[in-house]
Amino acid sequence: MAERLTYDMLICGSGLAGLRAAIAAAEAGPSLRIGIVSKLQVMRSHSVSAEGGTAAAIMEDEGDTVESHIYDTVKGSDFLADQDVAELLCTEMPSEIYALERWGMPWSRREDGRIDQRNFGGYSFPRATYASDKVGFFEMQTLYDTCQKYGNIEYLNEWFATSIIHDGRRFMGLTAIELATGSFYELRASSLVIATGGAGRLYSFSTYALSSTPDGLDMGLRAGMALKDMEFVQFHPTGILPSGILITEGARGEGAYLLNKDGQRFMKRYAPGKMELAPRDIVSRAIMTEILEGRGFRHETGADCIKLDLRHVGDERIREKLGAIREISIKFSGIDPSEDLLDVRPVCHYMMGGLHTDIAGATEIRGVWAAGEAACNSVHGSNRLGANSTSECLVWGRIAGEAAARHALDAKEAGPWPHHLVAAEEKRIYDGIFRGGGHENPYEIRQQLTDIMNEKAYVYRDGEGLADGLRQVRKLRQASWMHVDDKAPQYNTNFVNVMEIDSMFRVAEIVLLGALNRRESRGAHARTDHPSRDDANFLHHTLAYHDPEGPIMRTHPVTITRYRPVERKY
Ligand code: FUM
Repeated sequence: MAERLTYDMLICGSGLAGLRAAIAAAEAGPSLRIGIVSKLQVMRSHSVSAEGGTAAAIMEDEGDTVESHIYDTVKGSDFLADQDVAELLCTEMPSEIYALERWGMPWSRREDGRIDQRNFGGYSFPRATYASDKVGFFEMQTLYDTCQKYGNIEYLNEWFATSIIHDGRRFMGLTAIELATGSFYELRASSLVIATGGAGRLYSFSTYALSSTPDGLDMGLRAGMALKDMEFVQFHPTGILPSGILITEGARGEGAYLLNKDGQRFMKRYAPGKMELAPRDIVSRAIMTEILEGRGFRHETGADCIKLDLRHVGDERIREKLGAIREISIKFSGIDPSEDLLDVRPVCHYMMGGLHTDIAGATEIRGVWAAGEAACNSVHGSNRLGANSTSECLVWGRIAGEAAARHALDAKEAGPWPHHLVAAEEKRIYDGIFRGGGHENPYEIRQQLTDIMNEKAYVYRDGEGLADGLRQVRKLRQASWMHVDDKAPQYNTNFVNVMEIDSMFRVAEIVLLGALNRRESRGAHARTDHPSRDDANFLHHTLAYHDPEGPIMRTHPVTITRYRPVERKY
């Protein structure tokens, strides 16, 4: 029997988008009771690992323009971005930079005292605003500090949300497990912002925290929302070996080179105008082409890689501007980047896809918004530019937080509470998952699943590999793996992990099916059997709806306002 708590508004996820939503909501509705539900403690959210920058055109007096930020974003997206959404991002961003500054963000500064900005891939102007290379950590700390000013934000830290309760039209609440006690709750509220982040742990070689699994996406999917554009997975060019931890694009922004085994800066053959600062999809493909054509290196683990050279950047500048990646390189790979070359290869870093929303972050269920990486409002199309992700979290955290607060303020008396839905959810997770009778090791199954994704849906894909990947994932899912060995109620991480794996299967299937159906190459989706972009047949978004028999796939139009799609050249 579920215990009950009642809020006006809930936010699921406590990263950048979730905290920004909480501040906006607390300001818009000081009388509202706002609950942030997170499976982690706030400062353990994956947003703290964002490194290199937050994009905004704030140097208009020095030549940057919002218009240029919009165009770079749309071109970077390979023209799949909804252009009105890109416009909203770029227009709203400068004020978010200054809001953070007012709240105490320690932005790095120039000699003249102005906020500094660095180069990032695919931009026509250095517009990545930064704080050394710990941008996410400082942004999170600033937002979390600011949240403390409001007496109406409550933290349900280490609560695992399991389902969205709605009456077919309207949001009514969440079900969740309080991990400290194992108690099952219904959390009633009038509105919800989903800000559960990305799902990059679908891949075994990944920059994401181990907690970045698709449980938030899957919760929306099971509630009837579509996942959009999940086939577009971003592989960041520089994951350090052997761990896959991110080496920020800020390293190349500060001047680092990519070298092949002949000592060449090979980017001159792929993007002569931008070199190492081309958009990520292009740089990742270039690295993989070098490797596949025999010009890569073999790391001691057996993985193929190329080299990142920061030696000429110099120890002093590295310590000042890139202190985190210096520490990461030394601690996790035993290499000081001021003295030696780093071994890097493309690594899963971001999902352009997510819960389908409109420009204002509204989902298909009334009363539910989504923001940040969990959402797909189509701002990034098929390829996101670096530093536009933290920006997206700030802009749509605010927009969604305000809208959800207004909705809660206007909420009428709720209809009868659907007890049967809560009972069905309790049965699904306790009878189906907690007491599932499987005998195979779920952790081995997770490893196999994420290895399949790495192998079959990486930087380059093809129809045969994707179809094979889909077959393998479906077969693996049918294996008898669903069981929880640890029966303790308190802090049962085994239970949480098995629920996470359950969500991974549904979302992995959608990534593979979307990629298989998209018989073209666009942005981060590079099909060797369909190497060209095909606007005539595929200039549309992909929607996937849940069905127990397998995902139902649909398409959705792209909003084109100012820029006709042209061939991308850098
Ligand atoms: O390379 C980086 O620092 C990553 C930034 C981003 O994904 O936006």
